[in-house]
Amino acid sequence: MVLVTGGAGYIGSHTCIALHQAGFDFLVFDNLCNSSLESLKRVEKIINKKIKFVEGDIRSKENMQKAFEMYEIDSVIHFAGLKAVGESVELPLKYYDNNINGTLVLLEVMQEYNCKKIVFSSSATVYGDPHTTPIKEDFPLSCTNPYGRTKLFIEEILRDVYRADSDFKIVILRYFNPVGAHQSGTIGEDPNGKPNNLMPFIAQTAVGKHEFLSVFGDDYDTIDGTGVRDYIHVVDLAQGHVNSLQKISSLDGVLTVNLGTGNGYSVLEMVAAFEKASGKKVAYKIAPRREGDIAACFADPAYAKEVLGWSATKELNEMCEDSWRWQSNNPNGYN
Ligand code: NAD
Ligand code: UD1
Repeated sequence: MVLVTGGAGYIGSHTCIALHQAGFDFLVFDNLCNSSLESLKRVEKIINKKIKFVEGDIRSKENMQKAFEMYEIDSVIHFAGLKAVGESVELPLKYYDNNINGTLVLLEVMQEYNCKKIVFSSSATVYGDPHTTPIKEDFPLSCTNPYGRTKLFIEEILRDVYRADSDFKIVILRYFNPVGAHQSGTIGEDPNGKPNNLMPFIAQTAVGKHEFLSVFGDDYDTIDGTGVRDYIHVVDLAQGHVNSLQKISSLDGVLTVNLGTGNGYSVLEMVAAFEKASGKKVAYKIAPRREGDIAACFADPAYAKEVLGWSATKELNEMCEDSWRWQSNNPNGYN
């Protein structure tokens, strides 16, 4: 049985579908602090199966032990965490407590129940401002905000856990920019309040919730001066977790892998692609650069292919079409 912490969230809910399709039995553990049961209800409809769910907080040893008592858990996919960069600057202790403390409790309980396989959601943010692109896994690591530091610290904690006990099998997945939605249009990304990330902001602008998109800077050293990122379809990303679980037993050491497409698109290219996919106009205005942003960030995806047999399959038009289907069918998200 696979324990999926944070499984009611954006990436977790899509991963539930991929796990089901690959024949894995799983249970979702989530405190619903940034999600609702509605996402899991909709996943149940898609997979036509009831999902095992335990409501709880990863920081609570009792809550975690309850899940391990109820089910025979042999591996964990660990999504649970807070992810808003701006909020992490305002409330660093909240982020260190939730993400780091939560992971420590999870690892302690895993050890207690002799469960030693874990796939962890890291982020390309751990590369800081890369000296060159595409980014390879052995590039130097750094970070510019508390959220990023929680990811980097947890990576280091996992490496220490392996050093102390080489029975542990650990996969660290560094996601680039997840976008898109399941093709049913019934589940997708549902940010709280005004989105910080580009794709949900574009989608909400297209559906009429914002007057225009602010493009953060047009004087970067990129193709058109706007920031370049590696957008990856969330369904491809979900599949990366399935491949990781399929390979994890044969692992030796800690495997750290980029999950990206290897393609970089600028903000203006994203706007144009979204307009094409949706048939809607996305008004935008050039605004000052956002603090902490970098010019370009995209993956070298070769290692993921080599060690996980995984590569992204979905192109930009599909990412935009699927985002639009979700956004236009659910203008207010799950509410
Ligand atoms: P999300 O907020 O949609 O999902 C996270 C889930 O974890 C939510 O359902 C939330 O309720 C749950 N959760 C948070 N704290 C918890 C706690 N203490 N106990 C139990 N459950 C808790 O986010 P997402 O986009 O699905 O991201 C999943 C993971 O991937 C996160 O760790 C995130 O940092 C990481 N990540 C996301 C992105 C991205 O752009 N979405 C990029 C890189 C890495
Ligand atoms: C952001 C986070 C990063 C996190 C990632 C995925 C920051 C500084 N970084 O990265 O830590 O891992 O999300 O969750 O917040 N843009 C606009 N207008 C907008 C929004 C974004 O022009 O309203 C631009 C940005 O300047 C950037 C690109 O769009 O060039 C993508 O932005 P975003 O979706 O926020 O992702 P990242 O900046 O890569």
